[in-house]
Amino acid sequence: RRVLVLNGPNLGRLGRRQPEIYGTTTHAELAHRCVTWGADLGLEVEVRQTNHEGDLLDWLNAAADDVVPVVLNAGAWTHYSYALYDACSQLVAPLVEVHLSEPLQRPEEFRHTSVVTPHAVEVIAGHGVEGYRLALEVVARS
Ligand code: DQA
Repeated sequence: RRVLVLNGPNLGRLGRRQPEIYGTTTHAELAHRCVTWGADLGLEVEVRQTNHEGDLLDWLNAAADDVVPVVLNAGAWTHYSYALYDACSQLVAPLVEVHLSEPLQRPEEFRHTSVVTPHAVEVIAGHGVEGYRLALEVVARS
């Protein structure tokens, strides 16, 4: 079973980006781990990252057409993109929302809202890179 792991803006700098918040694992390492974790669960995982919102919308639209489950960390778009809300609302297969940090516990008010959550079967936040494994387990069970 195919699964997409989609990462949004600034997550390409994982490992170098505010490591005290997001950890020291790089995006390449995260991608590698997701593929391995997925294989153990019988899932064929493809990991993508973009800083361009239109790319993410195109990938989500294709996932809707192809009925592919999605593990999504939309980064800051999570908090304000209504185009992302609309794209997520079209998904047919399960959507799992992931955040490395726990946005609800962070001081910035803007992080306390998510346009993804209304469409997600589960939200996994605050578990760092491990959260992606938990999200893939949710997909495998679904
Ligand atoms: C994030 C949390 C968001 O608030 C932030 O904008 C990110 C990363 C996380 O994984 O913790 O870019 O989605």
